[in-house]
Amino acid sequence: MKRATKIVSLGRDKKWTKGVINPPVVRASTVVFESLEHLAKAAEGRGKGELFYGRRGTDTHFALQAAIAELEGGVGTALYPSGAAAISGALLSFLKSGDHLLMVDSVYEPTRDLCDKLLAGLGITTTYYDPMIGAGIAELIQPNTKVLYLESPGSITMEVQDVPTLCQIAHQHGLVAMLDNTWSSPINCRPFELGVDISIQAATKYIVGHSDVMMGTATANEQHWEQLRENSYLLGQCVSADDAYLALRGLRTLGVRMAQQEKNALTIAHWLETRPEVDHIRHPAFPSCPGHEFFKRDYLGSNGLFSFVLKTGDRQAMKAFVEGMEHFKMGFSWGGYESLIVAEFGIDKIRTVTQWDSSKPMFRLHIGLEDTEDLIADLQAAFTRYHAALGA
Ligand SMILES: Cc1ncc(COP(=O)(O)O)c(C=O)c1O
Repeated sequence: MKRATKIVSLGRDKKWTKGVINPPVVRASTVVFESLEHLAKAAEGRGKGELFYGRRGTDTHFALQAAIAELEGGVGTALYPSGAAAISGALLSFLKSGDHLLMVDSVYEPTRDLCDKLLAGLGITTTYYDPMIGAGIAELIQPNTKVLYLESPGSITMEVQDVPTLCQIAHQHGLVAMLDNTWSSPINCRPFELGVDISIQAATKYIVGHSDVMMGTATANEQHWEQLRENSYLLGQCVSADDAYLALRGLRTLGVRMAQQEKNALTIAHWLETRPEVDHIRHPAFPSCPGHEFFKRDYLGSNGLFSFVLKTGDRQAMKAFVEGMEHFKMGFSWGGYESLIVAEFGIDKIRTVTQWDSSKPMFRLHIGLEDTEDLIADLQAAFTRYHAALGA
């Protein structure tokens, strides 16, 4: 099956859809059993997609889990109420007190906070590593290291990691390799073919795709699925059937949204590259992005999210740039159908082993499905405001 067909077809087994196109929203806490035998049979299959108790999921959840697992290329998918919950759920499923974790320095800030605050409090230590470390990761592995965590491309600064090399070394030392694969969504990278054991998605972004649901997923290979599934269940992780339905509905248009947003983002990024104010573009498809060669080797495409750095400017000029936009809304998150902008201050404060020059203004854009001519006009006006602020 080709990718576009998979996006449309996966998870539409008749046992879940009951013969219509989409599975119904099956809301449930209690499941009732007609006999002791029926209950015993359901208990046996309760971790394997058998209706048993609401927290274990219903047909709506099973359909979504099957679709994501197969798209990502793993054997099973656990659902969480947010991407952040998927990250903590995956890490807590494989780490215990006394363990050591290797965490990429360009990680999403709340993941760093999780390590420095909650995991540290549990007696789990973290060493941050340079996203470009490659084979050098071997030197950071300690006898108690249990997990190697990747996020590729990195949050905001977009460094693309050498995922196969890192996973290979992790496996040589018996570590579990986890990847925050949100940027690629389940369609622009084949994490398990690159050696990843657990692939995490903030489904809030491109899977849901409409900025109206929070959700996370963690998908595991054969070797790690039971432990991930059981421990995430023990942590009480589950999502509502309504949200599962919306995620599944979003998923069906993922391919066309991603393709159009990739095209739009490349148009905008190439336009920005011609601007004299721009120092460089942080987009994996551009040679100015660290790890561009890994992007070309390992990824099937990009999306709407990238950053750019200006040569000069102060806080006032950055404020003038982002305030007064017509189409770009100012706000966090990304992966929806709409364009967003955020001004990035103090990246150096959320990096501990790599250097970042925060004196140069940086913006992160998420390019949506609007016409790129309107978006460029919006950015042109932003540059005019920026110059006026600089001149003031
Ligand atoms: C790369 C990445 N991972 C995880 C998350 C967390 O997802 P959520 O907001 O659904 O908790 C985000 C959110 O912005 C993200 O950008």
